[in-house]
Amino acid sequence: MPDTYFAAREYAHIHAALEPLLADLPSPPEGHIGPQQAEYLYHLIRLLRPALVVETGFCVGHSACVIMLAQESIGLSPQLLSVDLCKYEETKWAAKHLASRFPGLMFIEGDTREALAPAVRRHLRRNAGLSLDLGIVDGGHDMDTALSDLEVLFSFLKPGGYLWLDDFENALPNSGVNLAGRTLAMRWGSCLRFQTRDGRGFMLHQKAF
Ligand SMILES: C[S@@+](CC[C@H](N)C(=O)[O-])C[C@H]1O[C@@H](n2cnc3c(N)ncnc32)[C@H](O)[C@@H]1O
Repeated sequence: MPDTYFAAREYAHIHAALEPLLADLPSPPEGHIGPQQAEYLYHLIRLLRPALVVETGFCVGHSACVIMLAQESIGLSPQLLSVDLCKYEETKWAAKHLASRFPGLMFIEGDTREALAPAVRRHLRRNAGLSLDLGIVDGGHDMDTALSDLEVLFSFLKPGGYLWLDDFENALPNSGVNLAGRTLAMRWGSCLRFQTRDGRGFMLHQKAF
């Protein structure tokens, strides 16, 4: 995982509310979304207009802020389901703090290998007509967990929906994520690889059929 940490002011150009939101959160104990990725994700969400986003790996909520501000910016009521093990004590505080600003944040504590599928199923069952339009995988970075997260989200994703695999083909390679991404690509195709100028990678998959 990249070990560079970015200051809140480096995100200020993306959305006026982003810098103060990030500055109020605890310092990330491990890698968080970089400013260039955050800008891409923000605009991707504005284009795709996903009513529901599901994310693995909340950490202290940096990507969550980007996702929900982007939904809000186009008049959607932010709706994000995020699952995290809570291996850092800051995670629960940050989730509670952000839920007071974004009531549509549903934070689930648990290991995605057990908690992800039931959480998504429950949420879709309770909200008839809702579909999963975008899934973001940034939880466990070992191959088994990253692939399991991708496959679970793929199985719920609506045709035409997108998956974002964070840290895929970073300049400093993360072998677990790279292997998981390539396995998904071999199985389902329809994947594109991106790398930002600061060396962070991600993969986008569109569920084509
Ligand atoms: C790289 S951080 C996520 C960063 C966040 N997406 C952001 O951009 O701010 C990875 C997170 O995944 C969580 N995690 C690791 N393994 C997990 C697992 N098996 N299930 C759920 N969460 C996990 C860790 O607790 C950590 O908070």
